[in-house]
Amino acid sequence: MGINMGKRIITTELMDEDKKIESTLRPQLLDDYIGQSKAKENLKVYIEAAKQRNESLDHVLFYGPPGLGKTTLAGIIANEMSVNMKVTSGPAIEKPGEMAAILNNLQEGDVLFVDEIHRLNRQVEELLYPAMEDYAIDIVIGKGATAKSIRLDLPKFTLVGATTRAGMLTPPLRDRFGVVNRLEFYTVEELKVIICRSANVFQVKIDEEGALELARRSRGTPRLANRLLKRVRDFAQVKYDGNITKEVADFALDLLEVDKLGLDNTDREILFTMIEKFNGGPVGIETVATTIGEDTGTIEEVYEPYLVQNGLILRTPRGRVVSELAYKHFGLCQEKLV
Ligand SMILES: Nc1ncnc2c1ncn2[C@@H]1O[C@H](COP(=O)(O)OP(=O)(O)OP(=O)(O)O)[C@@H](O)[C@H]1O
Ligand SMILES: [Mg+2]
Repeated sequence: MGINMGKRIITTELMDEDKKIESTLRPQLLDDYIGQSKAKENLKVYIEAAKQRNESLDHVLFYGPPGLGKTTLAGIIANEMSVNMKVTSGPAIEKPGEMAAILNNLQEGDVLFVDEIHRLNRQVEELLYPAMEDYAIDIVIGKGATAKSIRLDLPKFTLVGATTRAGMLTPPLRDRFGVVNRLEFYTVEELKVIICRSANVFQVKIDEEGALELARRSRGTPRLANRLLKRVRDFAQVKYDGNITKEVADFALDLLEVDKLGLDNTDREILFTMIEKFNGGPVGIETVATTIGEDTGTIEEVYEPYLVQNGLILRTPRGRVVSELAYKHFGLCQEKLV
């Protein structure tokens, strides 16, 4: 990983400190899951229909930046369908035989959650094609001239795949998902609701304005909202009377170097590089990536979406351009630099 990923308090990727809180904060049912109304409505219909017909749910793919609730939704699907969920991930499965064993152990209707599904190796992925399509796998028995292939029937299961890198999925795999959902960044209002709910679980008091400030700086991401809430709670406890107000939130978040738009040093580095080295663009994303020593795909699918979503970077046919809004945010005058 490039640029101080490990130390980013604002990274939306899973950190050790999140693991404990996430298990207590994860909503268990669709109705408790806030936001993502498109994906939610979609799933509601498919789940209801599958239940009425007494069938397994079609295979579901979730994609989108880290921390937006893909894993959470996989768990919710299993809960709503009242089935078991088996969890694995692309890089965890090295051989087709391992995948075959997992599939073979599933029960009718079960959810197999494959996280980071874009990282499955090719042979394992190819095993999934007939598994997803026909609920069967072909296994080869014996070696050389006497080897023969036999078809093994599988229970009708639901594959739920998640990826932050949809662009890396192969078309044949992608096409085998009946339900494909892109998760979006959350609005400030939605994050506020999530923060208030989490504060309730943590048993910490937070007022409207405090929740709003936290929501604004959480870059559209529930995982980050929860992490920041936990940090701010500590400040509230040690430096104040335990309650989270706007003053407490501002104090703590400024100290943590999370700015008013939820940008941190990495985002600023991307924007500053574009401003200082490329005059604000247009510049190709590969060039920006190389300049700051980061992988193009990571910039494109992990960092950039939030910057684009908030109008700080504009995508044009000739490349990326830093917006006027970004110049303003940094207190820079655009004209002088051009
Ligand atoms: N819609 C939601 N409502 C309330 N809380 C949510 C919601 N979505 C996510 N969360 C919270 O954010 C945390 C992170 O979500 P989750 O682990 O599902 O993200 P993810 O998309 O799987 O991330 P990654 O790509 O890193 O695997 C959850 O533990 C949960 O507490
Ligand atoms: Mg996940």
